[in-house]
Amino acid sequence: MARYACLVIGDPVEHSLSPVLHDAGYEALGLKEWKYAAQRVLPEALPAFAANLRRSDDVRGVSVTMPHKEAIMSLLDELDGPAALIGAVNTIVPDGGRLRGYNTDWLGVLEALRPVCNLSGERVAVIGAGGAARAFVYGLVQAGAKVTVYNRTPGKAEELARRFDCAVGELGDAAAIREAGVVCNTTSVGMGDGPASPVPEGALRAGQVVFDAVYNPYETKLLRDAAAVGATVVHGTEMLLHQAAAQFRLFTGRAAPVEQMRAAMMKVVLEKL
Ligand code: ATR
Repeated sequence: MARYACLVIGDPVEHSLSPVLHDAGYEALGLKEWKYAAQRVLPEALPAFAANLRRSDDVRGVSVTMPHKEAIMSLLDELDGPAALIGAVNTIVPDGGRLRGYNTDWLGVLEALRPVCNLSGERVAVIGAGGAARAFVYGLVQAGAKVTVYNRTPGKAEELARRFDCAVGELGDAAAIREAGVVCNTTSVGMGDGPASPVPEGALRAGQVVFDAVYNPYETKLLRDAAAVGATVVHGTEMLLHQAAAQFRLFTGRAAPVEQMRAAMMKVVLEKL
């Protein structure tokens, strides 16, 4: 019997890779009393979920995914600094009847990029201006990058850039995006079977690092185009892995066994290809 439970909540949630990642971590560290499950929570059931969580004595952590990352905030007792600035929570830690919210997505962004580039002083183009983009821009600015935001709706790019004191570009300006050392897609463009890329023709070049937050499919059109011109690609699965590793530490108090977690995730991802 598991003594400590962790959950991922979302709607839909059945395809979440979080159970695979966290369970692999428990197994690698021999944490036999820990168990991780996925729970579908409809938007209207979120307040009741939070109330039950406050009363539960076995749940040690909750991963929060779409569409709850913003709505959950008003139901919590405390937010850590980054979650408040980003305006989204992907992690809840219950503690003595109180619920603390964190955001580990920005850590996932930085850890995913760490092996391939030094962000300090680097020019980074962020495509998109939604919730995911806020976590990217927060993390990138923390790391000392010079960020320019590009978005289909320019007003939203301006709002995001103002919030984090960075620049705005035009999404159609391939030459400007091409000058960036790192290009990050935070939009949903490229998800599923869609053959679309979020950047215009000519925006990618050799020597760039191209990072796609979309991880389904594993090889998006953006990443295939990037590899074809000789850019270094960073898959969305790396962000997923590292945001989960940061959660694992918050939930269990133990450093995450990242290699074993990656291996378990990639086994599932590659089986689908
Ligand atoms: P998330 O929380 O996942 O970031 P979101 O807040 O809805 O989701 O943001 C989605 C982002 O993807 C937005 O930047 C959106 O652009 P708009 O602000 O113009 O809506 C972008 N996006 C979604 N579909 C897009 C498309 N087909 N082309 C370009 N951008 C798109």
